[in-house]
Parts: sequence; structure tokens; C-alpha cells
Amino acid sequence: MSVLEVEALHASAGTREVVRGVDLTVRSGEVHVVMGPNGSGKSTLAHALMGRPGTTVTSGSIRIDGKELVGLPAWRRAKAGLFLALQQPIEVPGVLLEAAMEEALSGPAGDAGGDPAGAAEIPAEIPARLREEAAAIGFDERFLARPLNVDLSGGERKRNEVVQLGVLRPKFAVLDEIDSGLDVDAVRAVARRIERATSEWGLGVVAVTHFHRLLRELRADTVHVLVDGRLVKSGGPELAEDLERTGYRAYGADEGDEGAA
Ligand SMILES: Nc1ncnc2c1ncn2[C@@H]1O[C@H](COP(=O)(O)OP(=O)(O)O)[C@@H](O)[C@H]1O
Ligand SMILES: [Mg+2]
Repeated sequence: MSVLEVEALHASAGTREVVRGVDLTVRSGEVHVVMGPNGSGKSTLAHALMGRPGTTVTSGSIRIDGKELVGLPAWRRAKAGLFLALQQPIEVPGVLLEAAMEEALSGPAGDAGGDPAGAAEIPAEIPARLREEAAAIGFDERFLARPLNVDLSGGERKRNEVVQLGVLRPKFAVLDEIDSGLDVDAVRAVARRIERATSEWGLGVVAVTHFHRLLRELRADTVHVLVDGRLVKSGGPELAEDLERTGYRAYGADEGDEGAA
């Protein structure tokens, strides 16, 4: 049983403070959903958790099982068990998916820089695991041989992230609009895969989404509303449906916050 604890987190993107005091506790197997108007800081929160360059934590704490992640580079946070699926996954020309997974699984373990020797047997399994994960969500096997995300459509990139999630088996996954750009069948398959992961290895999930349809197959324990960099309301899955009807105005969002894209 693991726990991700975010405490009084403040973070800036560029020069602007965007995340303005977020507290969040996620335990193994739990699904937390973050919804909020455009520009409310959802992606910045996700980036702050993973330590994406360009996002700076100005105060607060992010811990997995008591271990402080603030100040650590992204790869060390990954080693501590955190995974981020970007809203817009980037192309990494020249780096094959398989090689990236091999590197991720075989690098030094844990924060101490640990035990590179322990990874010697992993690589042989990786191609099989990639194929298995691809099949689970209808991701074309041919894409597995590509450099990371190169020449993939938006929806294919999203599925590619989920394939990686299944191979890496992190303790906690932050999924930034994993459902955007996916057709309805793909949303269902991806949501099911993630839901299965919560019991398969106790994955804890922080899922940013605009659509409650993701939650038909991925059962949310808690839905949070992020407005202006703060979680202004938390509730059960019904909150996601309410939001789709009422919008965010009742939660203090400016009218302008609810535009498209
Ligand atoms: N690198 C940056 N420099 C300046 N402002 C940024 C940067 N990244 C994001 N922002 C701003 O921070 C706010 C929150 O952005 P974001 O976290 O992407 O919102 P959301 O994901 O909720 O739509 C937006 O107003 C956005 O324009
Ligand atoms: Mg975003």
C-alpha cells in the first residue's frame, strides 16, 4: 500500500503562479479525477508533480510513501513510482519505444541510485509486454517499432502513453486528458485498462479530464474541481456529471474560463 501526498503545493509556469495551494492524497488503487475550466492549472499541476522543466514548485510538498519528490529531476520521480501522461505527448525522434522502456526499467533503482545489476533480465520481456499492452487497448503493433510518438496521430499518442503505463507499472499515474483525441471505443478500452491496473498492481490515479464519459469504465473514488489553481470542491463521481450540466461558474470560475479548447 502506497500513498501520494501533495501538500500546500504552489507552482509557477513561466513567471506566473498557476497552482496556488493544492492538497491531495491518493492511495494505491484509488482514482482521483481533476476537472476544471481551461487555464485553471490542471496541466501545470501535472507538470509540477512530475518535475517537468519549465514548471517550478515555489512551495509545498509532493511525497510518495514519505519520500520528498520536490527538487528531484523527473527521472528520479519516475524511479520513485510516478508516471505522467502528457496532455500533448511529444515526439522523440531517434528513441525507439522499446529502448525507452528498457532504459526506464533498467536504470538505477530507487532514489539512492541503487541496483543497476538487478535489471539484467528485464529487456527480454519488454517486447512481449509491449505487445500485450498494445493488444489490450487496440493499439496497432506496428507502431511499437517507431521512435517515440513519431508520426502518430493525437489519439495514437494517447494510447502509446497507456501502453507505456502498462509496461512500467508505476505506483501512481497522472493522466492529463488521456481521453482527448480518442474515439469512443478507444476511450472505453483505455479507461478499462487503467481501471484494471488499479486492482492488478494497485495503481493510484490522478486523471485530468473534461468528460465524465471516461468515468463510465474508470471508476472515480473522488472528483475534484480545480479553479484558479485551487481545488475548490471535492465529491463523488456524481460531481463529474453535475459539472457537465452546470459548468464551473458555480465554483467561482470567470465566464471567460469556459471557452473551447
Ligand atoms: N510556460 C508558461 N508560461 C506562462 N504561462 C503559462 C505557461 N504554461 C502555462 N501557462 C498559463 O498558465 C495557466 C494554466 O495553464 P494550464 O495548466 O495549461 O491549464 P489547464 O491545463 O487547466 O487548461 C494558463 O493561463 C496558461 O496560459
Ligand atoms: Mg491542460
